[in-house]
Amino acid sequence: MLSTHAVAISLALALAPATVAHYHLADTFIGHDFINGFNWETFDDPTHGRVNFVDQPTALSSNLSFASSDSFVMRADSTQVVAPASRGRDSIRITSHNAYNDSMIVLDLAHMPEGCATWPAFWTISQGGPWPNGGEIDIIEGVNLQPSNLVSLHTTGNCSMGQQRSQTGSAAFSISLRLYNDPPLPCRYTVSPNCDASLNNNQGCGTQFTAPNSFGSSFNQAGGGWYVMQKSATEGINVWFWSRNDHTVPAAVHTNNDMVYPDSTWGSPGATFPSDTCDYASHFNAHQIIFDLTLCGDWAGSVFPSSGCGSGTCTDFVNNNPSAFLDAFWEVNALRVYTLDS
Ligand SMILES: *[C@@H]1O[C@H](CO)[C@@H](O)[C@H](O)[C@H]1NC(C)=O
Ligand SMILES: *[C@@H]1O[C@H](CO)[C@@H](O)[C@H](O)[C@H]1NC(C)=O
Ligand SMILES: *[C@@H]1O[C@H](CO)[C@@H](O)[C@H](O)[C@H]1NC(C)=O
Repeated sequence: MLSTHAVAISLALALAPATVAHYHLADTFIGHDFINGFNWETFDDPTHGRVNFVDQPTALSSNLSFASSDSFVMRADSTQVVAPASRGRDSIRITSHNAYNDSMIVLDLAHMPEGCATWPAFWTISQGGPWPNGGEIDIIEGVNLQPSNLVSLHTTGNCSMGQQRSQTGSAAFSISLRLYNDPPLPCRYTVSPNCDASLNNNQGCGTQFTAPNSFGSSFNQAGGGWYVMQKSATEGINVWFWSRNDHTVPAAVHTNNDMVYPDSTWGSPGATFPSDTCDYASHFNAHQIIFDLTLCGDWAGSVFPSSGCGSGTCTDFVNNNPSAFLDAFWEVNALRVYTLDS
């Protein structure tokens, strides 16, 4: 027979609410915070884009990067004709100095790069690497005139996803190619549920959003919105999106909060990658945050002829049409990173 003491303890355990992970504000990036919090990368684009990633002083002096008290803008050049022998059109790729283990990344975005030849991405990658060790999570990604967002993971082996998951998006039918040192892809591939980057030409496992206004021109016309990515050893990887005028956006997301946690009011994420079919600890570790804007390259370039952008080549389009890139810019209202209590 149980002692009274033991009964009291088991009652207390039974009545205790289910543990909900609370994430506390670790870093805020608004306006000038990006200047000190991120590194401007200048290497050749690993995805073979027609871009010249410029350093921070160049970006600031040419206004390709611009910070104010409440806004941060990064863009591709939209004024110069690009010489064929040059590395490409000036653009930016920035990586956070800090890396984060289990976390919630909350992005309030006013505008994303849009238009023919563009391939913007907001994503995270293992600081430890080398890629694909520690994983890659593409939160916002797409090319050319693509109408909706594609979320995908790229990992080491033995990580795959079921086709039926609790998400509003669909297991993707187009490709994602966020690669480090892969050869250019010759053509399109159909969807894979396997996140293993060594398979299917590094397509990864993806979810195509079905929510309206999640990407490109329609995202911008709606005034942007919020993207939230949860990276969790227990909950897996989840991405939510709310358009600017979506009144269901949780208060913890659209106001400046010092704590955030997903609850039932958030609804199903647009994309979910549960940890039950992919061991989290062996595939993911601390990630840095990246914004980039490449042009053409392995994905945008390879599908350019079928993307409704005209009959010329992607490279010629980039070289000769500076004004086509007037809307090829990121404008961030705020980026907040929340981490678990340790
Ligand atoms: C730099 O870019 C910002 C943001 O787009 C813009 O408001 C500002 O007018 C630009 N400054 C110059 C000198 O062009
Ligand atoms: C992430 O977690 C690992 C394992 O606990 C730890 O060694 C590492 O320092 C952590 N990194 C960060 C950036 O918190
Ligand atoms: C593959 O992953 C599954 C699910 O996480 C795990 O049970 C299994 O042990 C893994 N196999 C290998 C060889 O790592």
